[in-house]
Amino acid sequence: MKTRLILSLMLVVAWATACGQPGQRGKQAAGNDVPVFLDDSKSIDERVEDALSRMTVEEKVAILHAQSKFSSAGVPRLGIPELWTTDGPHGIRPEVLWDKWSQAGWTSDSCTAFPALTALAASWDPDLAKLYGVSIGQEARYRKKDVLLGPGVNICRTPLNGRSFEYMGEDPFLSSTMVVPYVQGVQSNGVAACVKHYALNNQETNRFVTHVKVDDRTLYEIYLPAFKAAVQKGGAWAIMGSYNLYNGQWCCQNEYTLNGILKGEWGFDGVVISDWGGAHDTDQCVEHGLDLEFGTVTNNPSAASNTYANYYLASPYLEGVKSGKYDMKTLDDKARRVLRLFFRTVMDKNRPYGSFVSPEHIAAARKIGSESIVLLKNDGGVLPLKDEGRILVVGENAVKMMTVGGGSSSLKVKKEYSPLEGIRERFSNAEIVYERGYVGDVSGQFDGVSTGQDLDETRSAAQLIADAVAAAGEADCVIFIGGLNKSTFQDAEGADRQSYELPYGQDAVIEALAAVARKMVVINISGNAVAMPWAGKVPAIVQGWYLGSEAGHSLADVLSGDVNPSGKLPFTIGAQLSDYPARTEAQYPGIPRPEMSKMGLQDVTIYDEEYSEGIFVGYRWFDHESIAPTFAFGHGLSYTSFEIGDPKVSGSIGKGLTFSIPVTNTGKVAGAEVVQLYISAGDSAVERAPKELKGFSKVYLEPGKTATVKITIDKEAISYFDADKHEWVAAKGDYSALIGTSSDALSKTVEFKY
Ligand code: BGC
Repeated sequence: MKTRLILSLMLVVAWATACGQPGQRGKQAAGNDVPVFLDDSKSIDERVEDALSRMTVEEKVAILHAQSKFSSAGVPRLGIPELWTTDGPHGIRPEVLWDKWSQAGWTSDSCTAFPALTALAASWDPDLAKLYGVSIGQEARYRKKDVLLGPGVNICRTPLNGRSFEYMGEDPFLSSTMVVPYVQGVQSNGVAACVKHYALNNQETNRFVTHVKVDDRTLYEIYLPAFKAAVQKGGAWAIMGSYNLYNGQWCCQNEYTLNGILKGEWGFDGVVISDWGGAHDTDQCVEHGLDLEFGTVTNNPSAASNTYANYYLASPYLEGVKSGKYDMKTLDDKARRVLRLFFRTVMDKNRPYGSFVSPEHIAAARKIGSESIVLLKNDGGVLPLKDEGRILVVGENAVKMMTVGGGSSSLKVKKEYSPLEGIRERFSNAEIVYERGYVGDVSGQFDGVSTGQDLDETRSAAQLIADAVAAAGEADCVIFIGGLNKSTFQDAEGADRQSYELPYGQDAVIEALAAVARKMVVINISGNAVAMPWAGKVPAIVQGWYLGSEAGHSLADVLSGDVNPSGKLPFTIGAQLSDYPARTEAQYPGIPRPEMSKMGLQDVTIYDEEYSEGIFVGYRWFDHESIAPTFAFGHGLSYTSFEIGDPKVSGSIGKGLTFSIPVTNTGKVAGAEVVQLYISAGDSAVERAPKELKGFSKVYLEPGKTATVKITIDKEAISYFDADKHEWVAAKGDYSALIGTSSDALSKTVEFKY
């Protein structure tokens, strides 16, 4: 009885608290009704408005900035819990301390690492992007995270970009198509996707101080489409502003990109989150569209800790609102957006609980990995491996763990299968011999997470090559597994690669092995294109990516033929760096301004960078300049062969023009092919790229079977962005649809008029 009385009293107190306190701006709930904001039969907008009407100015400001490295406060008085973010985008980051990047030392945060996003893009399979999003969203949810900091969709403009591996390649249509199901999959768990880094964050060199100069047409045609698709088609609940500047302002506080394009033109109703330390002053953060500020002071090593109250959107904002400098309308808009995020995530009682390192997630990682591997070359059918007696595996990347490193996407995994482990397990009948071949990076540490691997090696470079060559002479097959890694100046955040060539003298190792090997396969593990001067000298080349927890299994699946490769390159592999469009210092990495600028309290040098190549990025550039790449965008072989039949066309561009394309598996094993459709404009008032990807479809076929793939395009596929009119224009005229299996293997042409 007594307990009941106490409980009732507690409920009354909680109720009164939720309904606002005397003297505060707040609404009283009528009778016994549940307050609207707690009533999940009401729409999110009604709940948001009700919650907002109960909040004090202090409470509104309090939800607009961080309270720790990765969390922000809720509204405790109303029972709205705090919000937790996490990296992203390949797995759930291990727990760090409240104020520091150092590890919290949990033993229950070892996650599933999914393949890096370049790999996902290389699958050209939106269903796999959905599986990826659902799975990583479940992992986030299980770990009680409400916002996943990913996916990344910045365009791979230069192969030197240290973070290309976190993005979806060089083409706006491919990345737009792949990002949508990823976002939807994550959010089906009641976890927000936070699409990053908006916008024009296409390099790591000088990432905080690069001022991008790009014309509007290029911005809209190349650099924005994937963000737009994530927002409008994917319904992303959050977006992360980038570190760099554009149009004279930092992108986390950029009037044109945030208020103008994102919230204005695209109608984004979610939250703009700053990249960690990407906010620089209160006026612009307030006025130019930032909603939720993270990492400002705690990212600055010289600052005192626990300074969240000093964030630009904390005390300085509150004081400004109180003094009348900043208006309530803007504050309410920000608070409303953040509340909407709460109701979509932490306040959703019905969201699923999630799961962590489940057999389903491991299977998903393996499947995405094996379907993303690209068979670049396979002369004489070297692959799949058959009954090899002795296999020599050479190279550091055969054994090096790749889930640790690379920056904020670094993970702590429950188990990572190395390529060598995968090969040993799958080819248990063969004799597997391993030789190091070269020494790359032996460290294996990131923010206190260690791979625990001892990769120390005392032999000289010459001795390592000599030993590998000697072993190659006695092997039936040599598999070289090298490429880049996740160390600084490789595929890693914070710095770009310093050269396009493979590091650590690997070219010499490959050449030496190629001279003696009976059969040879080179597997390049990277998230970027690399120079392959030996491409003509080795019969088989595989693009292997960072494949996550199941790397070894996914690779062995393809090497053995258990999985028939079907990945296609999401970027062009050029012969040399000078083949790519950013050729001058002004284009990359930018020219320092003589005068200093202010970044918050600091004086900094800004680097102006001209995207003067315009829309000619990736294959658009190679086509425009008639440069033959080593391997073209969209290229990828199979263990079977496919034939594309004559397309039939129906409909119209206005209502939807459908291409029905017969595809036949003409080989002996089952496999999947990606039918690709590019549009080429005839005479045009403006210069156009020779061709642009506007449709694709992946189809799986048993040997001898034919399927008809349908690809529908509309006005969007033939449009260009007219910067003067500031609108998309579908010009009347002649067009060609080029159809095939790679950007350089387009066997069918269909001409049409609009
Ligand atoms: C990165 C973001 C990341 C954030 C939080 C930043 O340095 O640029 O991509 O989400 O840190 O770790």
